[in-house]
Amino acid sequence: MIKKGIILSGGKGTRMSPLTKAVNKQLLPIYDKPLIFYPLSILMLAKIKDILIVVNKGQLNQYKSVIPNGKNLGIKITYVEQDKPRGLPDAFILGEKFIGKNNVSLILGDNFFYGQYLSKKLQECVKLKRGAKVFLHRVKSPEKYGVAKVKNNKIRLIKEKPKKFVSDLAITGLYFFDNKVIKYAKELRPSKRGELEITDLLNKYKKKGSLKADYIGRGGAWLDTGSIKDFYKTSNFVSVIENRQGFKIACLEEIAFLNKWINKKNLYDAIKFYGNCEYSNYLKQLISK
Ligand code: TTP
Repeated sequence: MIKKGIILSGGKGTRMSPLTKAVNKQLLPIYDKPLIFYPLSILMLAKIKDILIVVNKGQLNQYKSVIPNGKNLGIKITYVEQDKPRGLPDAFILGEKFIGKNNVSLILGDNFFYGQYLSKKLQECVKLKRGAKVFLHRVKSPEKYGVAKVKNNKIRLIKEKPKKFVSDLAITGLYFFDNKVIKYAKELRPSKRGELEITDLLNKYKKKGSLKADYIGRGGAWLDTGSIKDFYKTSNFVSVIENRQGFKIACLEEIAFLNKWINKKNLYDAIKFYGNCEYSNYLKQLISK
């Protein structure tokens, strides 16, 4: 069972500048909550309670003022600073001590997932014992993403931003790895753009025949938040769903409460912490149910 998860929440956020000059992208709002709430909610839905958040050097206090240490959510949150964006596999080098001898899940801080049966699927994925698993999602513009060609549920080819069509299955920012990931990450060398590449890491698993795929499916959404346009589109998506249904997406206290990790007293504390706002009103509703 994978009990540890890493959220990669640093990065330059160049495409979102000047918004990201003072504030990290993952702390900017997707509708009514900071972006980081969404990937954190995904790990919590997977029942992962021990979480490492990688943040940019100098931005730790910004994060801690929104998500202190996880106690309020019945989970454990540890932070580590990354001095510069060395690439996604750096998560496993920075997180070596945190991971220890365990298997681990990685989610990118700017990835948004939503859909029916997602929790169930996540809880299946954390059962991974050996190898690695990625989540794939069909996209209209595969040239913007890392893509995978799949046969018999095994990944045959991985290509980063292919100029010529290879597959329209994008590799999303949610991964499950066995403990070898630390060793493999350490073996990587920076690419031409000076970063350790996740595709190189996945290729190591692929070569051993131990890279598996799962799918979000057409009923689920995997949305981009990398560019300003996509950021606002995702924000709109959340606004439409929440205002239509009256349910919140990624209300961390709600997930913790439903998982029985926190009680009503913790919900009262959360209301006090957030103050008089719509998010608190939603928590009040949970208490009175
Ligand atoms: P990217 O989209 O590669 O980079 P970015 O978010 O900094 O944006 P831009 O391309 O506009 O500069 O990163 C994907 C996610 O991973 C994002 O949430 C930031 C995070 N990240 C790190 O935390 N450390 C890293 O070394 C890298 C490369 C990314």
